[in-house]
Amino acid sequence: MARNKITIVGAGNVGATTAHIAATGQLGDIVLIDIVAGLAEGKALDIAEAAPVQLYDCSVTGTVDWDKSTGSDIVIITSGLPRRPGMSRDDLLAKNVGIVKDVCREIVKHSPDSIVIVVCNPLDAMVYATAKTTGFAKNKIMGMAGALDSARFGSFIAAELGVSVEDIKCVLMGGHGDDMVPLPRFTSVSGIPLEQLLDAERIAELIERTRKGGIEVVNLLGYSAYYAPGAGAVKMAEAILKDKKTVLPCCTYCDSEYDVGGFFVGVPAILGTNGVEKIIELDLNESERALLEKSVDHVKSLAAKVDKLL
Ligand code: NAI
Ligand code: 2OP
Repeated sequence: MARNKITIVGAGNVGATTAHIAATGQLGDIVLIDIVAGLAEGKALDIAEAAPVQLYDCSVTGTVDWDKSTGSDIVIITSGLPRRPGMSRDDLLAKNVGIVKDVCREIVKHSPDSIVIVVCNPLDAMVYATAKTTGFAKNKIMGMAGALDSARFGSFIAAELGVSVEDIKCVLMGGHGDDMVPLPRFTSVSGIPLEQLLDAERIAELIERTRKGGIEVVNLLGYSAYYAPGAGAVKMAEAILKDKKTVLPCCTYCDSEYDVGGFFVGVPAILGTNGVEKIIELDLNESERALLEKSVDHVKSLAAKVDKLL
């Protein structure tokens, strides 16, 4: 049986980490692409040389040549500027729209049947730009942010309660920004509602830390996170390639769903062979709905900026 083919665009911190995690998970043959000569080749070679230790059989190829990505099942876009201390994700918009546009042209040309997972920031706006530029079916374009943000929330809850991360199930919605909407009412620890295990004040602190999770790492490192983002992107790719029907928060096209009106935002969805196979509509209460509306409004304002640049 032919192996799956995964192209990862951008061989920087997130792209190379995604490639390594995908290889260790034996997800398929990997093509790592960057515009900087030698960068993708060098990182791919390094990952391939770890194979005899970590025992993966898939090939890992680094290149500047899009021809090598032809016929990919999944393309993960990590190419784009990351933020530095003092920057918001939104500050990256103008530059990264241009990169996404160039990359999407190559994806359409070389892998017209692929499913695309966008990672570069500002995430929801870059997913919108990808959809507009590729014209691919809406179920085949999605963004990775909820997988990361819910993992951050889950890691904080597990540490707080002293329980296994395996037991935590988090739900989180909205855009990938400071106004993202973690939903404690839908978060549980082995089926036990979080609100029965932690008081409201402590939950609010963990939510705030989750919202600021990206900048917490930026302020420590001086640059952006990549281990957890890489793991989040691979989780989505795995759900699709293995047709797992995994329920994950991901940035996807919502029209009547949550009254979004035709934009890409983070919602819980089922991921399988066909990409985003179903959006799960939660019965939100008034305050949850208000938080989501605020976040969606922000996403819409970024989409308007993308429209001017495309
Ligand atoms: P990085 O600077 O380490 O890597 C970006 C790479 O993209 C560079 O190697 C650059 O040469 C390459 N690149 C630029 N233009 C290209 C093009 N046209 N074709 C191919 N490659 C190109 O940055 P890092 O840390 O890997 O972050 C990448 C992006 O992911 C940033 O926009 C960052 O903000 C975003 N990000 C998003 C997360 C999320 O949750 N959605 C989490 C973490 C990062
Ligand atoms: C993060 O949340 C910067 O979006 C990136 O780490």
